[in-house]
Amino acid sequence: MRHRMAVVLIAGALWALAASGAAPAQAEDKAALIKQRQGLMKQQAADLKAIQNYVSGGTDQDTAIAKVTEMMTLPPQIVALFPPGTSTAEFPGATHAKPDIWQQWDRFRDVPSVLLRAEQRLAEAIKNGSKQDVLDQVDAVGRSGCGACHTYFRAPLDD
Ligand code: HEC
Repeated sequence: MRHRMAVVLIAGALWALAASGAAPAQAEDKAALIKQRQGLMKQQAADLKAIQNYVSGGTDQDTAIAKVTEMMTLPPQIVALFPPGTSTAEFPGATHAKPDIWQQWDRFRDVPSVLLRAEQRLAEAIKNGSKQDVLDQVDAVGRSGCGACHTYFRAPLDD
């Protein structure tokens, strides 16, 4: 319980930081930010995979807790990694970020907090639930967090 509180507090602090500290990106920083956000996305995918691995018996509960704890630090960082001028229009071939992100910014900006809440439920399931609970919450993270954003805002990866 104390552990969970600490995680929530850290996530909250990062959230506040991301909301207040996002300075407009310089043009030369944009390509680096694109790489950075792709790295963050890959990290999320790897963490989620490790948690699925826990469900199938490949790793232990402590590992799954470490992975979900790491995951929860990531959503608050997402929005700051998407400055205007970093879509497929400006960086064709280097990014899959659709221009729709900035046309529907309010909608885009809200998804990471939905993702974080789903991850908090996932953390709870890993700590106190059954493997089936964990699986259900992994699906919820994928659907309401990752998928909800990709469906609208990410261009197909085979483009
Ligand atoms: C707020 C929107 C949003 C959320 C939430 C989100 N993604 Fe993404 N994701 C994107 C966008 C946009 C891209 C394309 C980024 C680019 O190419 O610059 C992307 C790209 C990716 C990539 C490809 C990275 C690469 O190497 O090019 C992976 C993998 C990925 N996301 C996994 C995830 C997973 C797993 C989650 C949930 C845990 C998630 N994403 C949540 C918007 C989101």
